[in-house]
Amino acid sequence: MTDYALSNAWQQARQRLALLEAELDPATRRHILDLGVRPGWHCAEVGAGGGSIAHWLCHIVGPTGRVLAIDIDPSLVAVDAPPGLEILAQDLTRDALPDGQFDLVHARWLLHHLPDIDDAIRRLINALKPGGVLLLEEPDFYPVHAGQRPLYTQFMDALTRAVVAATGRDCYWARDLPQRLTDLGLSDVDAAAEVAVLRGAGPLAQFYRLSGQQARERVVAGGYMAAEAYDAALSLLDDPRLWAFGACTVAAWGRRPPL
Ligand SMILES: C[S@@+](CC[C@H](N)C(=O)[O-])C[C@H]1O[C@@H](n2cnc3c(N)ncnc32)[C@H](O)[C@@H]1O
Repeated sequence: MTDYALSNAWQQARQRLALLEAELDPATRRHILDLGVRPGWHCAEVGAGGGSIAHWLCHIVGPTGRVLAIDIDPSLVAVDAPPGLEILAQDLTRDALPDGQFDLVHARWLLHHLPDIDDAIRRLINALKPGGVLLLEEPDFYPVHAGQRPLYTQFMDALTRAVVAATGRDCYWARDLPQRLTDLGLSDVDAAAEVAVLRGAGPLAQFYRLSGQQARERVVAGGYMAAEAYDAALSLLDDPRLWAFGACTVAAWGRRPPL
């Protein structure tokens, strides 16, 4: 079992994940459509979270297709799920995915929480049919260091470090995703990246504010940031005069070579 810091059982988890979906879904949908998804495809959405992409995929692939949503805690993806959506409670680091069954496997903002990224990617590749496509999207937080507000930068660095501390890594590696996919044997690898712009009190600021509230104990007890400064940074996120960069989400995709 992995030590996931931002459990979906938290009372504000649904709201927190809905804010993330509002920010990321437009680019994700664009990537998936560009990869050629169509009625009849079999898709797996891993680390499905609040479920917006799994639900949307059900409409795209239609009754002749299949969508499997997997999460260590799938309680939120199950809310208002379209008929036919398959839901599995699984830990990607431990449980075997169905082998060789999917035209598309997608995971977004999941791998940075896991201890062994390449092992997780191998498991996702194994779930693909030969010729199937893997789409991964992960945040790289380098842009938060480019701003004019040291308190914001310190907060984002402390928050992200504390949340992924159990992995032994930080959140500054997603730039390597295309290389990882190439090294793990995928063909037709390509990538794109998008830096988020955050306005205080806006939806993305609210997402980080909720994440910050949920992880406060970990950050402060772990010595990543002093409580007073941390609370000041949470308030700063409510200030509409704040403009800053959020994460850069790196999307990388590639195809499992045909047998
Ligand atoms: C940051 S959320 C992202 C949710 C969704 N992919 C999105 O982008 O909107 C990470 C999700 O991964 C799930 N998760 C964390 N560790 C997991 C694991 N080991 N196996 C499967 N799911 C996991 C969490 O429960 C959570 O729903």
